[in-house]
Parts: sequence; C-alpha cells; structure tokens
Amino acid sequence: MKRALTGIRPSGDLHLGNLLGTIKPGLALGDTHQCFYFVADLHALTTMRNAKELRKFSYDVAAAWISLGLDPKKHTLWRQSDCPEVTELAWYLSCVTGYGFLEKAHAFKDAQSKDREVNHGVFAYPVLMAADILLYDPDVVPVGKDQKQHVEMTRDMAGSWNALFGETLKLPEVLIREEVMTIPGLDGQKMSKSYNNVIPVFAKEADLKKAVMSIVTDSTPVEAPKTMKGTLLGTFFDVCASKETKNDIEVKLKAGNFGWGHAKLALFEVLNEMLSPARKEYESLRSDEKKLEAILLEGRDKAKSVALNVLGRVREAAGFRPC
Ligand code: TRP
Repeated sequence: MKRALTGIRPSGDLHLGNLLGTIKPGLALGDTHQCFYFVADLHALTTMRNAKELRKFSYDVAAAWISLGLDPKKHTLWRQSDCPEVTELAWYLSCVTGYGFLEKAHAFKDAQSKDREVNHGVFAYPVLMAADILLYDPDVVPVGKDQKQHVEMTRDMAGSWNALFGETLKLPEVLIREEVMTIPGLDGQKMSKSYNNVIPVFAKEADLKKAVMSIVTDSTPVEAPKTMKGTLLGTFFDVCASKETKNDIEVKLKAGNFGWGHAKLALFEVLNEMLSPARKEYESLRSDEKKLEAILLEGRDKAKSVALNVLGRVREAAGFRPC
C-alpha cells in the first residue's frame, strides 16, 4: 500500500485552512493509503514561546485528526518531537543545501518582509520539513497550496543528496486539491494564526459565529441587489458549501433585501453542520489527555521503526556507522 504523509503545526487554534487544506484531503486517502500524519511541534517552536500552550495545541491537533475520522490503530499519528531522529536527518540535508536556495523560500521571505523574527529555525524550516518527509519514505504528501514550494524543495534536496551519495532517499509527489485554493482568512489574506484572521474549527458555536460574521464585505445596503462573484464571501461558499447552497444564496442576494449579514449567517450554518458531529468526539478526547498521550506514543513507535530504517540508509551512504 502506498504511504501518505503530512503534518500540521500546533501553533494556534486549529482553523478552517488546516481543515480544508490538510485534514480533509488527508482523510480522503485513508482507504487507499497507509497514512503517516504528525503534529509538527518542532516546526511550531520557530514561533511558540510558551510550553503550556505548545503542549495544549499539540493535543488539540491530535484530537482533531481523530475526531474528524483518522483511525490511529489503522494509521500512524504521532508527535514530531517524539522521533528526534528527524533533526539528525535535517543536519545531513543541511550539508547539501545552499544558502541561496533557502533564501528563496516564500515563508522566509514573508517573515523578513513583515519584520517578524527571523531566527535560524525560520531560515532552516524547509530543511526540517524535507527531513520530516524523507525520513518516512512517503509516496504522496497532501498539503495546502501554500506548502507546495516546501515539497518541491524537499524533492530538490533529496535529489542533491542522491546525486552526491547514491540513491538513498525516495522522492515523494505533492498532492494538492486544486479546487481548494489557499484558504483565505477573514480579511482576504491567507488564513493563518500569524495574521490573526482565522475561523477556528473547534471553537464554541458562538465563537464560530462571531468569526464568520466578521468576514470582510463591502457596505452595499441590505435592499440593493448583490452578487458574491469575485468576493471573499463567495470564495468561502466555494470551498465550504455545496453548489446548490451557494446558488440558493446567490439568487437571494440578486433579488435584494438580503444583506451580507444574512449570507454570512447561511455560511455559519453550513460550517456548523459540517463541524458539529466531530465536536462532541473532539471534546471527549480533549478531556482525556492520558488517552491522547497513549495514542501518540503508540504512533511514535510505529513511526520510529520506519525512521530508523531510512536513517540507517542515510548514515551508511554518508560514511557514518549505520544505526
Ligand atoms: N509546514 C507545514 C505547515 O505549516 C507543516 C509541516 C511540517 C508539514 N512538516 C511537514 C506538512 C511535512 C507536510 C509534510 O502547514
């Protein structure tokens, strides 16, 4: 069976971008692939400075995967930092990766242009991500569009390594659902915790509503006929609602006397319906951290046995004692 691998950074409340960009596409592979999905807590450390929060967000991500449908017995769900072998592989890859190559990474350029902290972890982020992927020999990596460059860089790094040390690393394919564009945030930028514009997935109903109602719209009065075409709200309907629901709202908007507020309320209902079945399961999992911990450690054991195998190949190829 082919293997799929992906990760989510536990750096804030799980949001709609994570759900539509990574979790849903990841779950869709569950019947045909062996899924290796992890909580990317080492990656989160580039920005997180609070141990309690990091721990909490990590459990949140694990509980989200399970409550939305990932069976941890059938698949492998673990916390990245529990297999520290990944940092060893990151070092090996660092030694075949040029400074100029890393300077071209969007995430690095973005952090730099916005005057955010650019620590070495931010600069080396693509190398750790390549190690995350290559350490587990996956065939496909389902990610949101914003991560495409990182997977391409991973293939480049694996190619450089193989050219220098012989065929050691397997080049994975990126899997992006083209119809799910980069999920916009409430203000139209990419949805991201760092931009403070997220729709939280497992927030209380009232908070979900508040977030949806704050999607930016123009000030066309309620009475006036409108269209969602080309608007941010239209994009949300595209990625979350069925075609029928979207058409229905579009007809109402065109007729007039139906405001943006009404349309946003309809979107809230769509989202709430999509999320409420999982919410109960999520809350029950979240109330038992011991159970989550046990699941993550079981996942660690499965992940580690694959990791040690691949790391052994790399160590051997480089001239180190194989582990
Ligand atoms: N960089 C990804 C993000 O921010 C998270 C991530 C880390 C990841 N390692 C990965 C995704 C490996 C896929 C594969 O969303």
